[in-house]
Amino acid sequence: MTPGAVISWKQSRDKLILSMRILFLLFLSAVAGWSQDLVGLYLMWQSDPSTTMTINWVDLHTASPLDVHYRRVGETAWAKATGEKFAIADTTMQGRRVELKGLLPDTNYEFNIGKGIEKPAEGWRFRTMPRDLNRPVRFVSGGDMFSTRIKLDKANRNAASLDPDFALIVGDLAYANGVSSNRWVEWLKSWMQAAVSPDGRVIPLVIGIGNHEVKGGYNGKVPEDAPFFYSLFTTPQRRAYYALDFGEYLSILVLDTAHTNPIPGAQAEWLEKALAARKNKQFVFVGYHYPAYGTTKAPKGKTPLDAVHSIAIRENWMPAWEKYGVTAVFENDHHNYKRTHRLRQHKRDDANGIIYLGDGAWGVETRTVPDFATGWWLAKAEGRNHVWEVKIRSNGTSTIRAVDIDGKEFDKVEILTPRTKPVE
Ligand SMILES: [Fe+2]
Repeated sequence: MTPGAVISWKQSRDKLILSMRILFLLFLSAVAGWSQDLVGLYLMWQSDPSTTMTINWVDLHTASPLDVHYRRVGETAWAKATGEKFAIADTTMQGRRVELKGLLPDTNYEFNIGKGIEKPAEGWRFRTMPRDLNRPVRFVSGGDMFSTRIKLDKANRNAASLDPDFALIVGDLAYANGVSSNRWVEWLKSWMQAAVSPDGRVIPLVIGIGNHEVKGGYNGKVPEDAPFFYSLFTTPQRRAYYALDFGEYLSILVLDTAHTNPIPGAQAEWLEKALAARKNKQFVFVGYHYPAYGTTKAPKGKTPLDAVHSIAIRENWMPAWEKYGVTAVFENDHHNYKRTHRLRQHKRDDANGIIYLGDGAWGVETRTVPDFATGWWLAKAEGRNHVWEVKIRSNGTSTIRAVDIDGKEFDKVEILTPRTKPVE
């Protein structure tokens, strides 16, 4: 080979390398640019949490990819699933949804969203739930999330730092009142960026409805009154009241306190049947937004127990979960921390009563708990941002802790039986 030929070959090779580098940089910037346009990413379950995961994401592009690539952590080959689009209320935001099925229980997966990506650009991870309670399962619960973005981020980060298996959040998420899409954008971004566990795992959501999901900010009548809630969130029964079962060891019943479904009637009848069908489940928790045993809102001259919804819950729902027995009940809306005494038949029952935990202060401004002369139902209450952290074990015991927004545990309950005793 002549010296001229060597120089020419080297120049060609350098040009080829340069071209490849430019192409690679263009590819990276395209991926990064697309990632930056991502408004939200959140995980939910529509069916068995040990073998499925529904990946939802939101961006602004009508033609953005529908594919999810996923694999078990440690595997080399990627599987692909193709999702479907969904509209988000009457906005131009673009929803995407894929339900992954046939997953292995209690297994870490990594995934990316987007077509033709060989490696996860964002490094997203999730973990399926165990089929049996062969390790303790932990979840966090709360409601009433969003006053300012700074506080929402802090509260979401705090909840995720507890490394829960999932988050049960029941009502008043974005405070959008069914119309403020910009508040949903902030909520979605905050959840995507902050609700990630210490090892980079996205925390799945088990979600319920509150008054601020509804147009007008209080009670609606039909799902159309809460267009963001119903378009963003897919629940197992496609309703705001539903049951989610985790093997034989855990069921969560989420209810709608008259925001888009009345408390009596069809919902109450469903609740009775749902509890009857779950007699053999080990742990059962109930969660809803408006409290039966509240801490602040009360009709003039009366106590929170005299509120219309509180009475309706006691009359239409409570007999069912007192009859079948549950582990505990989560309530929200009143922007405080509270733990009731053990209660049954609207009286204190230390032997076989149910504990009501609330009162919805994930990231909102808290209130002052008035000194109710008849506050016989409250064991402890104060205006303090917090999440509840629940840990259930195979031996039937559970530990429930209140952790404030700075990560400090300030209340703890040990529950020694999985459910209260059934009473006819
Ligand atoms: Fe509320």
